[in-house]
Amino acid sequence: MTGFLEGKTVAVTGGGGGIGRTVSLACAAEGANVVVADHGVSMDGSNPSSEVADAVVKEIEAAGGTAIAVAGDVSKFQTGADIVAAAVDTWGSIDGVVCVAGNLRERMLFNMSEDEFDAVIAVHLKGHFNLYRHASAVMRKQEGGGSMVGFTSAAFVGSTAQANYSAAKGGIISLTRSAALSLHRYGVRANCIAPVAKTRMSENVPFEFETGEPTAVAPMAVYLLSDAAKEITGQTYTVVGPRISVWNQPREIRSMFAPGDEWTAEGIAETLPRTIKDEEHPMLAELKVRMAQMEAKKG
Ligand SMILES: NC(=O)c1ccc[n+]([C@@H]2O[C@H](COP(=O)([O-])OP(=O)(O)OC[C@H]3O[C@@H](n4cnc5c(N)ncnc54)[C@H](O)[C@@H]3O)[C@@H](O)[C@H]2O)c1
Repeated sequence: MTGFLEGKTVAVTGGGGGIGRTVSLACAAEGANVVVADHGVSMDGSNPSSEVADAVVKEIEAAGGTAIAVAGDVSKFQTGADIVAAAVDTWGSIDGVVCVAGNLRERMLFNMSEDEFDAVIAVHLKGHFNLYRHASAVMRKQEGGGSMVGFTSAAFVGSTAQANYSAAKGGIISLTRSAALSLHRYGVRANCIAPVAKTRMSENVPFEFETGEPTAVAPMAVYLLSDAAKEITGQTYTVVGPRISVWNQPREIRSMFAPGDEWTAEGIAETLPRTIKDEEHPMLAELKVRMAQMEAKKG
């Protein structure tokens, strides 16, 4: 270990299971005090238990590290405050937050219930807000600022049976980019990881996909939390097995101008297809291949 996070205090939501557990363990191994924040729920959010967070705290302590558990539900505004307060009350600062907690409620858009939509937005998008909001209020005033790491997914580009999840993950990128922008002058950074790893969340994906172990994701979280990444903010990185990729920054790429003050619909219909055109939706192209794989799997 290199002591990358020596002297820092870091909170990891979802830090008791899946990828989050490996992030908690890696942060502690790199010298951080860790708040393991996990509601200990099944994938749809049911059956909460404090045992999941407690078990990771025990693992960290057994390896000689320091950690405490908070078992609350990150979709609650108060839980964000409780997690940050636990860090500050115990160790005097909150230098990093990593928002790994997540749930799934898969359904085609036309069948999705209001509860299925709300539950996913609440844990993912609101869960990030709840942590970013309370952590940044402390970080902006403390020497050394802080680092916030969100967990998004390549599914933000689009997902056939997870419109709720895709929307939440897109929102997390926008929230994180906004945090990077507004907190830059206070020395607070914010970045996203889009992981792929073998966990309970990915075990039912019905097509073949590039994947890796959850432990492969943790070093990127450690790096983004560390002072080695102090110039990095507002970025999104895919992490899967040995591959780390940076995402582009969204920008307008082509424009057309009306001959007068404004376009008419007729003018747009005539001009757009031969000037600015459209841009290929990358998931639509993949969809055909995936549908064929899914059919083959069904037998
Ligand atoms: N596994 C993948 O391939 C993959 C791909 C893309 C994105 N992601 C994202 O990475 C993150 C981690 O995923 P994972 O595969 O490790 O999932 P996981 O289901 O294995 O672990 C999620 C953890 O979050 C906790 N949790 C769930 N709801 C909570 C809540 N309301 N409050 C506090 N804790 C809560 C669970 O108890 C669990 O320990 C998620 O945000 C997920 O969307 C994962």
